[in-house]
Amino acid sequence: ALITLRQLLDHAAENDYGVPAFNINNMEQGLAIMKAAAACDAPVILQASRGARSYAGDIMLRHMVTALSEMYPDNHVVLHQDHGNNDATCLSAIRHGFTSVMMDGSLEEDMKTPASYDYNVEITKRVTKAAHAVGASVEGELGVLGSLETGEAGEEDGSGAVGKLTEDQLLTDPDQAVDFVMQTKCDALAIACGTSHGAYKFTRKPDGDILSMKTIQGIHEKLPNTHLVMHGSSSVPQELQDLINQYGGHMPQTYGVPVEEIEKGIKMGVRKVNIDTDCRMAMTGMFRKIAMEKPQEFDPRKFNIPAMDELEKLVRDRFERFGTAGQA
Ligand code: G3H
Ligand code: 13P
Ligand code: ZN
Repeated sequence: ALITLRQLLDHAAENDYGVPAFNINNMEQGLAIMKAAAACDAPVILQASRGARSYAGDIMLRHMVTALSEMYPDNHVVLHQDHGNNDATCLSAIRHGFTSVMMDGSLEEDMKTPASYDYNVEITKRVTKAAHAVGASVEGELGVLGSLETGEAGEEDGSGAVGKLTEDQLLTDPDQAVDFVMQTKCDALAIACGTSHGAYKFTRKPDGDILSMKTIQGIHEKLPNTHLVMHGSSSVPQELQDLINQYGGHMPQTYGVPVEEIEKGIKMGVRKVNIDTDCRMAMTGMFRKIAMEKPQEFDPRKFNIPAMDELEKLVRDRFERFGTAGQA
């Protein structure tokens, strides 16, 4: 059944586990993730970016997720708007059946320029009021996501969207977080603690000191009832980089957030863990493998089935390691 983010993360907090939030754009991703959730008896967050909504269409996404929850009636599912950039994005998502929205006011509407604190408070407060009136949950964001190592915001090509960030932008301030939640009443809070989006997070193998556990712990202690969200949580597994590169891809060597670090973050209070890049790599790696190994093949199902299997494997691993398995 479809539930809200608040319902799911309250349960996660009571039972000390983390919930991965996987980005979806199409049926194959939805099927693979739900199959894994059912096999692991895990609740799950399916999230759609603005890009996903324009790719699949709101009507398609709504019916797809309804169909998925009908196919797997025993699993609890949240349909969440990832990185909403204004009121209209968030409210139209709710209208299309999303049970939760992220109002990302850490950046201006262009999603590039860091926004002022006052702007962030005002827009998040407004969206929360509207969402709560119709029973939907809200995730806000405070701090600008970026790698503590490189100071880059992170993007698919590794070039920062907003230029070099300073350390006080890169780590959310616990006292400001308290003020932000008090004013906005958001249910969940995305914090900046050293991660960045995309595949190119770190240039060297992380040595166990890449996330600011102090930031996570400090915020969690002051805000025990607000669920902390870690964006940019792909691990960019070496074996998926190798799979892509072995079959004609060119991904320069890169490092993501080790799963052990995420496990530590969950112990410190992180509840929602956003993963997109790893899922993309799993599917694309298999597409490449089939394309090279079977150049005579042209039935898309022969590409999609192994790609879905690879994604399912990844998703199951995260459910097991985040403690989500068995909690559906
Ligand atoms: O945070 C961004 C997510 O990875 C979604 O990416 O906007 O390309 O769909 P997208
Ligand atoms: P990754 O790029 O690390 O998968 O992060 C995804 C994310 O934070 C979506 O909001
Ligand atoms: Zn994100």
